[in-house]
Amino acid sequence: MRSSTSDAHAPAALDAARAALRQARSVVALSGAGISAESGIPTFRDALTGLWSRFDPADLASEEGFRAHPQRVWDWYAERREGVRRAEPNAAHRALAEFEQRHPGTLRVVTQNVDDLHQRAGSRDVVRLHGDILQDRWLDACPRRPACRAADAGPARPPRCAHCGNLVRPGVVWFGERLPESALTTAQRLASRCDAMLVVGTSGAVWPAAGLAGLARRAGASVVIVNPAASEIDDAATHLLRGAAAAVLPQLLAAA
Ligand code: OAD
Repeated sequence: MRSSTSDAHAPAALDAARAALRQARSVVALSGAGISAESGIPTFRDALTGLWSRFDPADLASEEGFRAHPQRVWDWYAERREGVRRAEPNAAHRALAEFEQRHPGTLRVVTQNVDDLHQRAGSRDVVRLHGDILQDRWLDACPRRPACRAADAGPARPPRCAHCGNLVRPGVVWFGERLPESALTTAQRLASRCDAMLVVGTSGAVWPAAGLAGLARRAGASVVIVNPAASEIDDAATHLLRGAAAAVLPQLLAAA
């Protein structure tokens, strides 16, 4: 049964959620795009605006889309990479990192985000379910032995291997791709063993990440959801706090 569903600014709701976190020996923070929204990084759907609004997510974030239009997809990611580099962690990222430092070994961040704002705020050993937008990797396995190592330094978009023609792609998980196995296994193990899970800024629409909240709840953890809007995993919440991450997390975690 859910113990509170409230405006995050209601002191009773905050207090109940804070108490659950304070009692926990092991806490998982599962974050999504909403935690970086107040750093100016658009959520996935908000990134499909302006010039990009005529495309489907699958046109821009899938292997098929990249193979069909590599330059278009590369340019979209180049714009998003620029946004990530310019952005700074906000009060929500910092509140999680500070909690982790105050309670060593207690909190682990599991993120669906491809930005590096948790790490820049000071969180350690972040589990990255959907990769890293700032990393490059080859599109295909290199056919040569030894494998080619560097792409052309030229202006090609995307860069291409001068020897085998392989293309460079962003190191993110695209639609239809499997999550990195070790990250997913670690996240599932942490979720099934934690005493509390703090779910921040995710729509809960993308699986298997969305399943982690239910997994934690079924295993007996308290689940605190922070989101200004309804999400698809609200059913898993023991404490549902309607509010923006950068406002709620400092209050929730400061005294915990
Ligand atoms: P979404 O873009 O699906 O959802 C963002 C969520 O953040 C929504 O529920 C918003 O209500 C919430 N939100 C917005 N502003 C907020 C704020 N200031 N504080 C707290 N919450 C806020 O993002 P994700 O759930 O992360 O996948 O999406 C999951 C995956 O879908 C992404 O990782 C990406 C995308 O396709 C891959 O790249 C594989």
